[in-house]
Amino acid sequence: MKSRLATLSLLVFALSYSSLSLAQDAAKGAELFKQCIACHGEKGEGNPAQKAPRIAGQHDWYIEKQLQDIKAGITRKNPVMMPFLSKLNATDMKDLAAYISKLK
Ligand code: HEC
Repeated sequence: MKSRLATLSLLVFALSYSSLSLAQDAAKGAELFKQCIACHGEKGEGNPAQKAPRIAGQHDWYIEKQLQDIKAGITRKNPVMMPFLSKLNATDMKDLAAYISKLK
């Protein structure tokens, strides 16, 4: 029971810490997002002509996972985004996800 409580409080701490860091990193995400605008639009609204989907307001964890999957190129292949993703590290993807999830 005691160890369960400890695990739980650790989890709560980790969760609050991660949402805190996400909020702070959205500014850097905005900077990184400039290179995505050509296809996904200034507000992430998407662009049918580019077949680029709307990504604004999507959950941050989903955006981050898609970026990781597309970059890995195993379960999700997206050649047009590869040149951009190859320059992003894990933190960049988190920052981008934090920013995009708040777009309306
Ligand atoms: C050259 C055009 C282009 C650029 C630049 C581009 N994307 Fe994309 N993106 C696409 C297309 C096309 C798709 C959908 C293709 C597919 O089925 O995977 C896509 C899919 C996505 C998805 C998955 C959406 C979903 O609902 O599953 C995310 C997230 C995403 N892009 C984010 C980004 C971010 C962040 C950047 C900038 C670092 C970026 N894209 C740059 C064209 C682009």
